Amino acid sequence: MNTKAIVAAASAILALGVAGQALSKSIELPPDGVQFKASSLPGYAKAQANCVACHSAEYMLYQPPSAPRPYWDAMVKRMKMVFNAPINDADMPEIVDYMVKTFGAEQAK
Ligand code: HEC
Repeated sequence: MNTKAIVAAASAILALGVAGQALSKSIELPPDGVQFKASSLPGYAKAQANCVACHSAEYMLYQPPSAPRPYWDAMVKRMKMVFNAPINDADMPEIVDYMVKTFGAEQAK
């Protein structure tokens, strides 16, 4: 390799590095501000109070729309048991009701 070739190779590597940096700067983070869908169900306010402390309401959108009531029941309990979410047992049925009717199998068609 002569000097010219080495300089050319070095600047090519440098250009790659700069391009890589530019790329990583343009990566977009997932939306973090997804809100719960408004509803007249009593579980709506309870979901807002209990279910967005650790993640946004966007997580609900990734659940299967065919998910039945027991699925949501298990999900809400899992949040409490596994992740220590401070959810009152008394609030759970209304939260589950809101979830299944808003994101799950009992959605109004
Ligand atoms: C104490 C924190 C906390 C609270 C409060 C909380 N969650 Fe979660 N939730 C998590 C964590 C941690 C995960 C797992 C994230 C991951 O796997 O990337 C999760 C994941 C989820 C998922 C995605 C499916 C899954 O199994 O990973 C759903 C749906 C969900 N939560 C629903 C709820 C609902 C409904 C409530 C309110 C009743 C709630 N969460 C409250 C911590 C919480």
